[in-house]
Amino acid sequence: MSVPIIREPAALRAMTAGWRRAGEAIGVVPTMGALHDGHLSLVAAAKQRADRVIVTIFVNPKQFNNPDDLKNYPRTEEEDARKLERFGVDAIWAPEGDIMYPPGFSTNVSVAGLTDVLCGAYRPGHFDGVATVVTKLFRQTAADFAFFGEKDFQQLQVVRRLSRDLDLGVEVVGCPTIREIDGLAMSSRNLLLSDRARVKAPRLHEVMEEIAAGLAAGRPMPELVPPALLALEKADFLKVDYLELRSCNTLALLESPREPARLFAAAYLAGVRLIDNIDIPVRG
Ligand code: PAF
Repeated sequence: MSVPIIREPAALRAMTAGWRRAGEAIGVVPTMGALHDGHLSLVAAAKQRADRVIVTIFVNPKQFNNPDDLKNYPRTEEEDARKLERFGVDAIWAPEGDIMYPPGFSTNVSVAGLTDVLCGAYRPGHFDGVATVVTKLFRQTAADFAFFGEKDFQQLQVVRRLSRDLDLGVEVVGCPTIREIDGLAMSSRNLLLSDRARVKAPRLHEVMEEIAAGLAAGRPMPELVPPALLALEKADFLKVDYLELRSCNTLALLESPREPARLFAAAYLAGVRLIDNIDIPVRG
């Protein structure tokens, strides 16, 4: 069955008010479209947990710090709507830019600390853009639950903190990263990879798994990172923004996994910025 696409706040409000009156729990899956199986796994998780599910599709200009990146971001709304048909999604919330940010819009939501590192350090303003739009999406959809992928682990932690700090009343549910058969983490940005680059892209995850094996054997990060960077360079990842082990909860830098930790990477392959992260078991 085709999924209604809502573009007007009043129509969305009427719909969610009816659901809330009926005592139904609302789940939201925020996306920027170009839906892949990773997004669809979030939708499936939302269907399990909530009575009503809204998928939002909005390419949020406030979170792009590079105008070309915003211009090139894949936009595939019709196809996205078709992909959602088989999930029994109740609505797609796809507002136009000036509905989300009307003239004179001047509010910024900023989460301190967690956003100073990793992608926050390389993409100034990115997480303010995410926090601002997610706050609006949570309010607009009157959600009880929101589903985010661990692929963007820093974003997941930022949104959890945001929902708690601002008493938004939304339970933020993290869902595992979905990977292609060759290990590449699914991402809408993968569509931007040339055929040649796509073949090399899984090397990022492989190198991360090699570091994970080193950590499991008791070797510290300063010993493991230099050969990993060389391996990435060989695979044409010419710029690595970060390759770091950090605490899951605080995102503080670690040399070895003495507390729940994740290994984070961001690197450019043929002009496309790929990010990934993996869980690292606690040792010692
Ligand atoms: O992860 C994304 O696609 C975006 O950052 C989000 C959460 C939809 C906010 O625009």
